[in-house]
Amino acid sequence: MSTDTLSGGPVAGAQPQPQAPPAAQPTPGRIPVRLKIRRYNPETDPEPHWELYEIDCLPTDRLLDALHQVKWEIDGTLTFRRSCAHGICGSDAMRINGRNRLACKTLIRDLSPEHEITIEAIKGLALEKDLVVDMEPFFAAYRDVKPFLITHGQEPTRERRQSQADRAIFDDTTKCILCAACTTSCPVFWNDAQYFGPAAIVSAHRFIFDSRDEGAEERLQILNDREGVWRCRTTFNCTDACPRGIQVTQAIQEVKRALLFRRI
Ligand code: SF4
Ligand code: F3S
Ligand code: FES
Repeated sequence: MSTDTLSGGPVAGAQPQPQAPPAAQPTPGRIPVRLKIRRYNPETDPEPHWELYEIDCLPTDRLLDALHQVKWEIDGTLTFRRSCAHGICGSDAMRINGRNRLACKTLIRDLSPEHEITIEAIKGLALEKDLVVDMEPFFAAYRDVKPFLITHGQEPTRERRQSQADRAIFDDTTKCILCAACTTSCPVFWNDAQYFGPAAIVSAHRFIFDSRDEGAEERLQILNDREGVWRCRTTFNCTDACPRGIQVTQAIQEVKRALLFRRI
């Protein structure tokens, strides 16, 4: 008998045999995690309810990985939004352990995984299914503040130039990814969905303070509305929730000051 036969290797003239896949090895360092997820199926559930899922994952996994594990290995009906998985698209804001965060920027180890981790949809927008809400009112408020460059007169024949100092004035608010974590953590918005909300004000700020823009007065009039900046009670939930670290409350205060003193 040849060595090849003993080792299970190929024999001259024989058909190649399919190899059994190697047995899956448990990944060292995995820990048991209990995810308590608020589920809602509008076709079958009169009310949302909590369900518990037990999985094993690495402390360095993101919560989004854990949700994928539930969806792909336990219950394919679990519904949530996500796209980039890297904190850029803003689609996976959810309420995790009672605080708005992006699932893809939240590590399991930072969520006290020895306890149940609670996951539910962001508040203040109509629940559609599981962790998915109707974002349309949020984007309607965004559109209302005209989040685009407004200019009058002739188009310039060269680029619109801006000094570094002028650019720095609105640098912070350019970082918004429209995730809605701020607006849906605001108690004023919870009680009055007509309030523009911090995200729309951040988007307005980005253009109001842009030296190349000529639509500041228009936007300030819009935000001077009953449901505009004056509804803000400086609660700071929005600033705490922002995954981009934007000083949301400060931006709102700057818009209020601009309205009071029109120094723009
Ligand atoms: Fe999200 Fe921050 Fe923009 Fe609000 S300001 S929508 S929390 S990125
Ligand atoms: Fe709401 Fe932020 Fe103002 S949480 S009350 S918009 S400071
Ligand atoms: Fe895009 Fe989280 S999936 S920000």
